[in-house]
Amino acid sequence: MKAIRILAIESSCDEGAAAVIEGRGEQLTVLSNVVYSQIKLHQKYGGVVPEVAAREHSETLLPTVAAALRQAYPKIKKGRELIDGGKYIDCIAVTTGPGLSVALRMGMEVAKTISYVWGKPVVSVNHLAGHIYANWLSKNKITFPLICLIVSGGHTELVYMKEHSQYKKIGWTIDDAAGEAFDKGAKVLDLGYPGGPAIASIAKNGNKKAHHFPRPMINSGDLQFSFSGLKTALLYFWRDQKGISKSDVAASYQEAIVDTLLQKTTQALKQSPHLSLRAKVRDKQKVKTLLLGGGVAANKELRERLAELVKNDFPKVNYVQPDLPFTTDNAAMIGAAAYFQSRRGKYTPWRKLDADPNWSL
Ligand code: KG4
Ligand code: ZN
Repeated sequence: MKAIRILAIESSCDEGAAAVIEGRGEQLTVLSNVVYSQIKLHQKYGGVVPEVAAREHSETLLPTVAAALRQAYPKIKKGRELIDGGKYIDCIAVTTGPGLSVALRMGMEVAKTISYVWGKPVVSVNHLAGHIYANWLSKNKITFPLICLIVSGGHTELVYMKEHSQYKKIGWTIDDAAGEAFDKGAKVLDLGYPGGPAIASIAKNGNKKAHHFPRPMINSGDLQFSFSGLKTALLYFWRDQKGISKSDVAASYQEAIVDTLLQKTTQALKQSPHLSLRAKVRDKQKVKTLLLGGGVAANKELRERLAELVKNDFPKVNYVQPDLPFTTDNAAMIGAAAYFQSRRGKYTPWRKLDADPNWSL
Protein backbone atom coordinates (compact mmCIF):
# COMPACT_ATOMS: atom_id res chain seq x y z
CA MET A 1 0.00 0.00 0.00
CA LYS A 2 1.39 3.36 -1.07
CA ALA A 3 1.94 5.97 1.66
CA ILE A 4 0.43 9.44 1.32
CA ARG A 5 2.71 12.24 2.53
CA ILE A 6 1.04 15.44 3.64
CA LEU A 7 2.39 18.90 4.44
CA ALA A 8 -0.10 20.47 6.87
CA ILE A 9 -0.46 24.14 7.81
CA GLU A 10 -2.44 25.62 10.72
CA SER A 11 -2.91 29.34 11.47
CA SER A 12 -6.48 29.71 12.76
CA CYS A 13 -5.54 31.57 15.95
CA ASP A 14 -2.25 32.46 17.66
CA GLU A 15 -0.29 29.33 16.78
CA GLY A 16 1.44 29.19 13.41
CA ALA A 17 2.16 25.53 12.78
CA ALA A 18 3.40 23.19 10.09
CA ALA A 19 3.84 19.41 10.08
CA VAL A 20 4.61 16.55 7.76
CA ILE A 21 2.71 13.34 8.27
CA GLU A 22 2.66 10.07 6.41
CA GLY A 23 -0.43 7.90 6.22
CA ARG A 24 -0.73 4.26 5.19
CA GLY A 25 -3.95 2.31 5.74
CA GLU A 26 -5.17 3.35 9.21
CA GLN A 27 -1.62 4.14 10.39
CA LEU A 28 -0.28 7.68 10.68
CA THR A 29 3.33 8.68 11.32
CA VAL A 30 4.35 12.19 12.33
CA LEU A 31 7.57 13.05 10.49
CA SER A 32 7.72 16.58 11.90
CA ASN A 33 5.51 18.87 13.96
CA VAL A 34 6.62 22.48 14.38
CA VAL A 35 4.57 24.98 16.38
CA TYR A 36 5.43 28.64 16.55
CA SER A 37 3.40 29.99 19.47
CA GLN A 38 2.65 33.70 19.67
CA ILE A 39 1.43 33.51 23.28
CA LYS A 40 4.12 35.90 24.56
CA LEU A 41 3.11 38.51 21.98
CA HIS A 42 -0.55 38.47 23.04
CA GLN A 43 0.01 38.16 26.79
CA LYS A 44 0.28 41.90 27.25
CA TYR A 45 -3.22 42.33 25.75
CA GLY A 46 -4.72 39.58 27.96
CA GLY A 47 -5.98 37.69 24.89
CA VAL A 48 -5.44 37.19 21.15
CA VAL A 49 -5.54 40.31 18.94
CA PRO A 50 -6.48 39.09 15.43
CA GLU A 51 -4.52 41.70 13.44
CA VAL A 52 -1.41 41.15 15.55
CA ALA A 53 -1.74 37.37 15.08
CA ALA A 54 -2.08 37.73 11.30
CA ARG A 55 0.90 40.06 10.99
CA GLU A 56 3.05 37.67 12.99
CA HIS A 57 1.88 34.71 10.86
CA SER A 58 2.91 36.61 7.73
CA GLU A 59 6.47 36.76 9.08
CA THR A 60 6.76 33.35 10.68
CA LEU A 61 4.69 30.87 8.67
CA LEU A 62 7.11 30.41 5.77
CA PRO A 63 10.11 29.65 8.03
CA THR A 64 7.88 27.33 10.10
CA VAL A 65 6.86 25.40 6.96
CA ALA A 66 10.52 25.26 5.86
CA ALA A 67 11.55 23.90 9.28
CA ALA A 68 8.84 21.21 9.18
CA LEU A 69 9.97 20.09 5.70
CA ARG A 70 13.65 19.92 6.64
CA GLN A 71 12.97 18.07 9.91
CA ALA A 72 10.96 15.49 7.97
CA TYR A 73 13.48 15.21 5.12
CA PRO A 74 16.94 16.23 6.37
CA LYS A 75 18.33 15.64 2.87
CA ILE A 76 16.72 18.91 1.74
CA LYS A 77 19.31 21.70 1.67
CA LYS A 78 18.74 24.64 4.00
CA GLY A 79 17.08 27.43 2.07
CA ARG A 80 15.67 25.10 -0.60
CA GLU A 81 12.82 23.58 1.45
CA LEU A 82 10.01 25.36 -0.39
CA ILE A 83 11.60 24.54 -3.74
CA ASP A 84 12.67 20.92 -3.29
CA GLY A 85 9.99 19.88 -0.76
CA GLY A 86 7.55 19.22 -3.59
CA LYS A 87 9.47 16.04 -4.53
CA TYR A 88 8.53 14.43 -1.22
CA ILE A 89 4.96 15.63 -0.64
CA ASP A 90 1.71 14.32 -2.19
CA CYS A 91 -0.71 16.98 -0.97
CA ILE A 92 -1.04 20.09 1.18
CA ALA A 93 -3.52 20.38 4.05
CA VAL A 94 -4.63 23.69 5.47
CA THR A 95 -7.10 24.86 8.11
CA THR A 96 -9.77 27.03 6.48
CA GLY A 97 -12.10 27.46 9.50
CA PRO A 98 -13.37 27.98 12.09
CA GLY A 99 -11.04 30.64 13.45
CA LEU A 100 -9.95 34.25 13.03
CA SER A 101 -10.52 35.26 9.43
CA VAL A 102 -7.33 37.29 9.01
CA ALA A 103 -5.22 34.58 10.65
CA LEU A 104 -6.78 31.73 8.63
CA ARG A 105 -6.07 33.62 5.39
CA MET A 106 -2.34 33.74 6.11
CA GLY A 107 -2.06 29.94 6.20
CA MET A 108 -4.33 29.61 3.20
CA GLU A 109 -2.22 31.96 1.08
CA VAL A 110 0.90 29.95 1.92
CA ALA A 111 -0.92 26.70 1.04
CA LYS A 112 -2.26 28.13 -2.22
CA THR A 113 1.17 29.35 -3.30
CA ILE A 114 2.88 26.04 -2.50
CA SER A 115 0.10 24.11 -4.24
CA TYR A 116 0.47 26.29 -7.36
CA VAL A 117 4.25 26.03 -7.47
CA TRP A 118 4.48 22.29 -6.69
CA GLY A 119 1.38 21.34 -8.67
CA LYS A 120 0.04 19.36 -5.68
CA PRO A 121 -3.61 19.27 -4.53
CA VAL A 122 -4.95 20.94 -1.38
CA VAL A 123 -7.16 19.47 1.32
CA SER A 124 -9.26 22.07 3.13
CA VAL A 125 -9.57 21.05 6.79
CA ASN A 126 -11.98 22.04 9.57
CA HIS A 127 -9.99 22.95 12.69
CA LEU A 128 -12.34 20.95 14.94
CA ALA A 129 -11.99 17.89 12.70
CA GLY A 130 -8.27 18.35 13.35
CA HIS A 131 -8.83 18.28 17.11
CA ILE A 132 -10.78 15.02 16.72
CA TYR A 133 -8.14 13.44 14.46
CA ALA A 134 -5.35 14.31 16.92
CA ASN A 135 -6.45 11.04 18.52
CA TRP A 136 -5.26 9.05 15.50
CA LEU A 137 -1.71 10.33 16.03
CA SER A 138 -1.27 8.36 19.24
CA LYS A 139 -1.24 4.93 17.52
CA ASN A 140 -4.45 3.76 19.14
CA LYS A 141 -6.87 1.44 17.44
CA ILE A 142 -10.03 3.49 17.09
CA THR A 143 -13.35 1.89 16.21
CA PHE A 144 -16.60 3.49 15.09
CA PRO A 145 -19.19 4.56 16.06
CA LEU A 146 -17.64 7.04 18.43
CA ILE A 147 -18.23 10.22 20.37
CA CYS A 148 -15.63 12.95 20.73
CA LEU A 149 -15.73 15.58 23.45
CA ILE A 150 -14.10 18.67 21.92
CA VAL A 151 -12.99 21.26 24.47
CA SER A 152 -11.06 24.22 23.10
CA GLY A 153 -10.79 27.98 23.53
CA GLY A 154 -13.70 28.63 21.20
CA HIS A 155 -15.72 25.40 21.22
CA THR A 156 -17.28 22.82 23.52
CA GLU A 157 -18.99 20.11 21.51
CA LEU A 158 -20.00 16.49 21.66
CA VAL A 159 -19.62 15.08 18.15
CA TYR A 160 -20.85 11.70 16.96
CA MET A 161 -19.07 9.88 14.13
CA LYS A 162 -20.39 6.77 12.43
CA GLU A 163 -17.37 6.63 10.13
CA HIS A 164 -14.37 8.66 8.98
CA SER A 165 -14.99 12.32 8.08
CA GLN A 166 -18.74 12.13 8.97
CA TYR A 167 -19.64 14.44 11.82
CA LYS A 168 -22.90 15.02 13.72
CA LYS A 169 -22.96 17.56 16.50
CA ILE A 170 -25.04 16.13 19.35
CA GLY A 171 -24.22 18.75 22.01
CA TRP A 172 -22.70 22.21 22.08
CA THR A 173 -22.35 25.30 24.24
CA ILE A 174 -25.01 27.99 24.12
CA ASP A 175 -22.52 30.66 25.22
CA ASP A 176 -18.88 30.38 26.38
CA ALA A 177 -16.62 27.41 25.67
CA ALA A 178 -14.84 25.42 28.41
CA GLY A 179 -11.49 26.96 27.41
CA GLU A 180 -13.07 30.42 27.63
CA ALA A 181 -14.29 29.57 31.14
CA PHE A 182 -10.66 28.80 32.07
CA ASP A 183 -9.36 31.94 30.32
CA LYS A 184 -11.96 34.30 31.80
CA GLY A 185 -11.67 32.67 35.23
CA ALA A 186 -7.91 33.23 35.15
CA LYS A 187 -8.49 36.87 34.28
CA VAL A 188 -10.75 37.26 37.34
CA LEU A 189 -8.09 35.62 39.52
CA ASP A 190 -5.38 37.70 37.85
CA LEU A 191 -3.42 34.67 36.67
CA GLY A 192 -2.63 35.81 33.11
CA TYR A 193 -3.20 34.34 29.64
CA PRO A 194 -3.79 31.56 28.60
CA GLY A 195 -5.89 30.76 31.62
CA GLY A 196 -6.17 26.96 31.35
CA PRO A 197 -2.57 26.08 32.19
CA ALA A 198 -2.45 28.90 34.80
CA ILE A 199 -5.54 27.67 36.67
CA ALA A 200 -4.47 24.01 36.37
CA SER A 201 -1.05 24.87 37.76
CA ILE A 202 -2.18 26.63 40.96
CA ALA A 203 -5.13 24.24 41.38
CA LYS A 204 -2.59 21.46 42.03
CA ASN A 205 -1.99 22.90 45.50
CA GLY A 206 -5.64 23.66 46.21
CA ASN A 207 -8.60 21.88 47.75
CA LYS A 208 -11.20 21.23 45.07
CA LYS A 209 -13.92 20.81 47.67
CA ALA A 210 -13.18 24.14 49.41
CA HIS A 211 -15.89 26.10 47.57
CA HIS A 212 -18.91 25.26 45.48
CA PHE A 213 -19.42 26.79 42.05
CA PRO A 214 -22.44 26.06 39.85
CA ARG A 215 -22.49 23.12 37.42
CA PRO A 216 -24.37 24.93 34.64
CA MET A 217 -27.25 23.15 32.85
CA ILE A 218 -26.35 19.89 34.51
CA ASN A 219 -30.02 18.93 34.78
CA SER A 220 -31.18 20.36 31.47
CA GLY A 221 -31.89 16.86 30.15
CA ASP A 222 -30.05 17.50 26.90
CA LEU A 223 -26.40 17.65 25.85
CA GLN A 224 -26.09 21.46 25.83
CA PHE A 225 -23.41 23.31 27.78
CA SER A 226 -23.29 26.83 29.23
CA PHE A 227 -20.26 28.31 30.95
CA SER A 228 -20.84 32.07 31.07
CA GLY A 229 -22.74 31.95 34.39
CA LEU A 230 -19.91 30.03 36.01
CA LYS A 231 -17.45 32.80 35.19
CA THR A 232 -19.89 35.38 36.60
CA ALA A 233 -20.32 33.30 39.78
CA LEU A 234 -16.54 33.32 40.20
CA LEU A 235 -16.36 37.07 39.59
CA TYR A 236 -18.82 37.91 42.41
CA PHE A 237 -17.45 35.26 44.75
CA TRP A 238 -13.86 36.49 44.36
CA ARG A 239 -14.90 40.15 44.67
CA ASP A 240 -16.71 39.51 47.96
CA GLN A 241 -14.20 37.16 49.63
CA LYS A 242 -11.07 38.39 51.34
CA GLY A 243 -8.06 36.43 52.51
CA ILE A 244 -8.96 33.04 51.06
CA SER A 245 -6.56 30.75 49.21
CA LYS A 246 -6.42 31.40 45.45
CA SER A 247 -5.35 27.79 44.93
CA ASP A 248 -8.50 26.54 46.66
CA VAL A 249 -10.66 28.82 44.50
CA ALA A 250 -8.86 27.73 41.29
CA ALA A 251 -9.16 24.04 42.23
CA SER A 252 -12.88 24.39 43.03
CA TYR A 253 -13.55 26.36 39.83
CA GLN A 254 -11.67 23.79 37.71
CA GLU A 255 -13.67 21.05 39.43
CA ALA A 256 -16.95 22.73 38.41
CA ILE A 257 -15.83 22.82 34.74
CA VAL A 258 -14.58 19.21 34.78
CA ASP A 259 -17.72 17.92 36.57
CA THR A 260 -19.95 19.60 33.99
CA LEU A 261 -18.00 18.11 31.08
CA LEU A 262 -18.10 14.67 32.69
CA GLN A 263 -21.80 14.83 33.44
CA LYS A 264 -22.76 15.63 29.81
CA THR A 265 -20.37 13.01 28.43
CA THR A 266 -21.87 10.41 30.79
CA GLN A 267 -25.32 11.35 29.59
CA ALA A 268 -24.31 11.02 25.93
CA LEU A 269 -22.80 7.56 26.54
CA LYS A 270 -25.84 6.44 28.56
CA GLN A 271 -28.24 7.61 25.84
CA SER A 272 -26.30 5.79 23.10
CA PRO A 273 -27.54 4.61 20.61
CA HIS A 274 -30.34 7.21 21.00
CA LEU A 275 -27.80 9.97 21.02
CA SER A 276 -29.65 13.23 20.83
CA LEU A 277 -33.29 14.12 20.51
CA ARG A 278 -32.41 17.77 19.87
CA ALA A 279 -30.01 16.96 17.03
CA LYS A 280 -32.18 14.00 15.93
CA VAL A 281 -29.26 11.59 15.98
CA ARG A 282 -29.73 7.91 16.66
CA ASP A 283 -27.97 4.78 15.52
CA LYS A 284 -28.52 1.05 15.61
CA GLN A 285 -25.23 0.45 17.37
CA LYS A 286 -23.94 1.54 20.74
CA VAL A 287 -20.94 3.86 20.80
CA LYS A 288 -17.66 1.91 20.95
CA THR A 289 -15.13 4.68 21.53
CA LEU A 290 -14.90 7.96 23.43
CA LEU A 291 -12.34 10.49 22.18
CA LEU A 292 -11.18 13.75 23.74
CA GLY A 293 -9.81 16.73 21.80
CA GLY A 294 -8.90 20.44 21.95
CA GLY A 295 -6.63 22.59 24.11
CA VAL A 296 -8.50 21.81 27.34
CA ALA A 297 -7.73 18.12 26.67
CA ALA A 298 -4.28 19.02 28.08
CA ASN A 299 -5.92 19.35 31.50
CA LYS A 300 -4.63 16.56 33.75
CA GLU A 301 -7.68 16.51 36.00
CA LEU A 302 -10.02 16.17 33.01
CA ARG A 303 -7.91 13.43 31.41
CA GLU A 304 -7.72 11.38 34.62
CA ARG A 305 -11.37 11.80 35.56
CA LEU A 306 -12.61 10.85 32.05
CA ALA A 307 -10.37 7.77 31.96
CA GLU A 308 -11.67 6.71 35.38
CA LEU A 309 -15.29 7.36 34.43
CA VAL A 310 -15.12 5.19 31.32
CA LYS A 311 -13.22 2.42 33.11
CA ASN A 312 -15.75 2.24 35.95
CA ASP A 313 -19.07 3.08 34.30
CA PHE A 314 -18.66 2.15 30.63
CA PRO A 315 -16.21 -0.78 30.58
CA LYS A 316 -17.20 -1.73 27.01
CA VAL A 317 -16.22 1.69 25.69
CA ASN A 318 -12.64 2.32 24.60
CA TYR A 319 -11.37 5.70 25.87
CA VAL A 320 -8.67 7.42 23.80
CA GLN A 321 -7.06 10.78 24.46
CA PRO A 322 -4.49 12.64 22.37
CA ASP A 323 -0.84 12.80 23.46
CA LEU A 324 -0.13 16.20 25.07
CA PRO A 325 1.67 17.83 22.07
CA PHE A 326 -1.45 17.18 19.98
CA THR A 327 -4.00 18.71 22.38
CA THR A 328 -3.36 22.44 21.86
CA ASP A 329 -3.24 23.81 18.31
CA ASN A 330 -0.79 22.06 16.00
CA ALA A 331 -0.59 21.11 12.33
CA ALA A 332 -0.05 17.34 12.72
CA MET A 333 -3.74 17.01 13.69
CA ILE A 334 -4.72 18.94 10.54
CA GLY A 335 -2.62 16.52 8.48
CA ALA A 336 -4.33 13.58 10.21
CA ALA A 337 -7.83 14.84 9.35
CA ALA A 338 -6.64 15.61 5.80
CA TYR A 339 -5.31 12.07 5.33
CA PHE A 340 -8.72 10.50 5.89
CA GLN A 341 -10.35 13.17 3.67
CA SER A 342 -7.81 12.57 0.89
CA ARG A 343 -8.65 8.83 0.93
CA ARG A 344 -12.16 9.86 -0.08
CA GLY A 345 -10.79 12.12 -2.81
CA LYS A 346 -11.87 15.31 -1.02
CA TYR A 347 -9.48 17.86 -2.52
CA THR A 348 -10.11 21.54 -3.28
CA PRO A 349 -8.56 23.32 -6.28
CA TRP A 350 -6.39 26.15 -4.90
CA ARG A 351 -8.46 28.82 -6.70
CA LYS A 352 -11.60 27.64 -4.86
CA LEU A 353 -10.01 27.65 -1.41
CA ASP A 354 -11.80 30.08 0.91
CA ALA A 355 -11.80 30.82 4.63
CA ASP A 356 -14.97 30.15 6.64
CA PRO A 357 -14.41 31.67 10.12
CA ASN A 358 -17.68 30.11 11.41
CA TRP A 359 -17.43 26.69 9.74
CA SER A 360 -19.46 24.28 11.85
CA LEU A 361 -18.77 20.54 11.77
O1 KG4 B 1 -7.40 24.11 20.96
P1 KG4 B 1 -6.72 25.31 21.46
O2 KG4 B 1 -5.21 25.30 21.49
O3 KG4 B 1 -7.15 26.57 20.63
C1 KG4 B 1 -8.47 26.72 20.15
O4 KG4 B 1 -8.81 26.05 19.15
O5 KG4 B 1 -9.20 27.46 20.82
O6 KG4 B 1 -7.30 25.60 22.91
C2 KG4 B 1 -6.88 26.68 23.66
C3 KG4 B 1 -7.60 26.62 24.99
C4 KG4 B 1 -7.39 27.86 25.83
O7 KG4 B 1 -8.65 28.30 26.31
C5 KG4 B 1 -6.51 27.37 26.97
O8 KG4 B 1 -6.70 28.07 28.18
C6 KG4 B 1 -6.95 25.93 27.09
O9 KG4 B 1 -7.13 25.51 25.76
N1 KG4 B 1 -5.95 25.07 27.75
C7 KG4 B 1 -6.18 24.45 28.93
C8 KG4 B 1 -4.97 23.79 29.27
N2 KG4 B 1 -4.06 24.01 28.28
C9 KG4 B 1 -4.69 24.81 27.36
N3 KG4 B 1 -7.28 24.41 29.72
C10 KG4 B 1 -7.19 23.71 30.86
N4 KG4 B 1 -6.08 23.06 31.29
C11 KG4 B 1 -4.95 23.07 30.52
N5 KG4 B 1 -3.86 22.41 30.94
ZN1 ZN C 1 -7.84 24.58 18.51
